[in-house]
Amino acid sequence: MTEPAIIVENLVTQYGDRRILDGVSCTIPRGEITVILGRSGCGKSTLLRHLIGLARPHSGRIVILGQDLGGLDEEGLTALRRRMGVLFQGAALFGSMTVGDNVALPLREHTTLEESTIRIMTRMKLELVGLSACEDYFPQALSGGMRKRAGLARALAMDPEILFFDEPSAGLDPVTAAGLDDLILSLNRTFRMTIVAVTHELTSVERIAGHVVMVDRGTILFSGPYDQLLASQEERVRQFLERRPDLIEQDTEAYLSTLLGEA
Ligand SMILES: Nc1ncnc2c1ncn2[C@@H]1O[C@H](COP(=O)(O)OP(=O)(O)OP(=O)(O)O)[C@@H](O)[C@H]1O
Ligand SMILES: [Mg+2]
Repeated sequence: MTEPAIIVENLVTQYGDRRILDGVSCTIPRGEITVILGRSGCGKSTLLRHLIGLARPHSGRIVILGQDLGGLDEEGLTALRRRMGVLFQGAALFGSMTVGDNVALPLREHTTLEESTIRIMTRMKLELVGLSACEDYFPQALSGGMRKRAGLARALAMDPEILFFDEPSAGLDPVTAAGLDDLILSLNRTFRMTIVAVTHELTSVERIAGHVVMVDRGTILFSGPYDQLLASQEERVRQFLERRPDLIEQDTEAYLSTLLGEA
């Protein structure tokens, strides 16, 4: 078996005294699409920030592409981050730059390539996400779905070995969201790219997930192939998959029936 793209061992994170991730261990396989799943506020984005080396753990170990984050200085960390592409929640494009310049930015910052080469590479990435006609547009002239695609082109600029998404389809209509999911699938199939997507959209999970890491109350509730997640009998997993809300507390129910009784 090939070595995983990322290994997380006993990761603990806290903000002040509040513990957010409490001993998280999981692996992200190479060449697959891994979905990080869980309720709002469970710590998905926090875990993602650790997986890209943006946050230092309180304790625990993270190994990315064979390198232990704990043993890296700032320079080593920067070099490692160049091998990863990230599309944050909301795309985060620079409004004062054209779409083309946004995509070219990582190449201008991190390489010494000629301007003409950078132009060609930028156009290739825009072509890949179906935005070749929009190179000279400013981000405010794009729809939400187009912005995500532009952000994706920028994340792909440096030909990353791992691509990360935070909520790729949030805020998009179902058709546009499905289009973005298909783009993620084709990147994985065409380039065998390792992809990690954080989401809580079950429709999107159904479409793209190969491997699943499910976070719940600061720990890992499930980690494994998507088929196994579907077969899981764990109550918290079933509740999430079946979209069941938490039960109303007894007191609330009693209170409501008194109100109804009085009416
Ligand atoms: N910088 C911070 N300072 C303090 N608390 C934080 C910070 N960032 C996140 N938190 C807390 O950590 C918890 C997990 O947040 P996180 O953003 O990781 O959740 P999430 O699973 O991504 O949620 P969502 O699905 O809503 O995006 C939340 O309770 C949040 O309030
Ligand atoms: Mg989040």
